[in-house]
Amino acid sequence: MRIVLMGPPGAGKGTQARRLSESTGMKHLSTGDMLRAEVASGSELGLLAKEFMDRGDLVPDSNIIAMIQQHIDHPAGILLDGFPRTVVQAKALDEALEQTTTPVDQVIHMSVDIDELVKRLSNRALCGDCQTPYSLESDPPSQPGICDNCGGSVAVRVDDRPEAVTHRMKVYQDLTAPVLDYYKSHGDVVEIVATGSPDEVFEKLSQTIKSGMPGVNAN
Ligand code: AP5
Ligand code: MG
Repeated sequence: MRIVLMGPPGAGKGTQARRLSESTGMKHLSTGDMLRAEVASGSELGLLAKEFMDRGDLVPDSNIIAMIQQHIDHPAGILLDGFPRTVVQAKALDEALEQTTTPVDQVIHMSVDIDELVKRLSNRALCGDCQTPYSLESDPPSQPGICDNCGGSVAVRVDDRPEAVTHRMKVYQDLTAPVLDYYKSHGDVVEIVATGSPDEVFEKLSQTIKSGMPGVNAN
């Protein structure tokens, strides 16, 4: 099964994809996490990506498609978080999946209002090693700055600065919202209001995935 989790910055894609991966066994693939690992390793791709990421721009499609291509066929199924993010990427994914046995099964759009998104991102910190997200307000690490999951160092993301957040929201509207239209034109987007507690959102997502319900359920 292949599931695309879509939603603006701060919608909770990473938080929920981790939990869903644990509960279903599916592989969580986050292009943001993969890119941050490249940046941390100082690779050629990391050096290139850092500039785009720090200011909240998208990394070029060709780099992203090359990076993710080899991961999209996993026996336990995949949960895509942060990919595809442009129509070019969505078409490349469809083409790559034509070579395999299963297409995208579900596209889930997690919507959250803008004030809540900004609030979440201004409180977020992330483990630099295992990339577990924390909310410094409601779900901080037990020991400040230290990841509960792996003991790595927890810090605020450079692109969670207010000016980068504003730019990321615009980039989402301009380049990623059209991906939703692309999938809706195929009739397969499930809408989830991703407010409420993380447990409540997890419950909604689990039900949606369990039902395996294709078809448009637009607002
Ligand atoms: P990426 O890392 O994908 O960032 P994003 O899409 O902007 O999304 P976020 O990770 O900010 O939010 P999220 O939805 O995962 O929310 P989270 O669970 O952390 O991408 C970063 C950059 O990489 C991009 O800007 C771009 O440069 C590049 N990039 C990545 N993919 C790319 C691609 N395909 N093409 C080109 N470039 C690409 O939650 C946020 C906070 O809210 C946390 O603190 C969390 O604890 C809290 N929270 C979660 N759920 C709840 C809840 N229900 N209630 C209250 N708080 C909650
Ligand atoms: Mg994320």
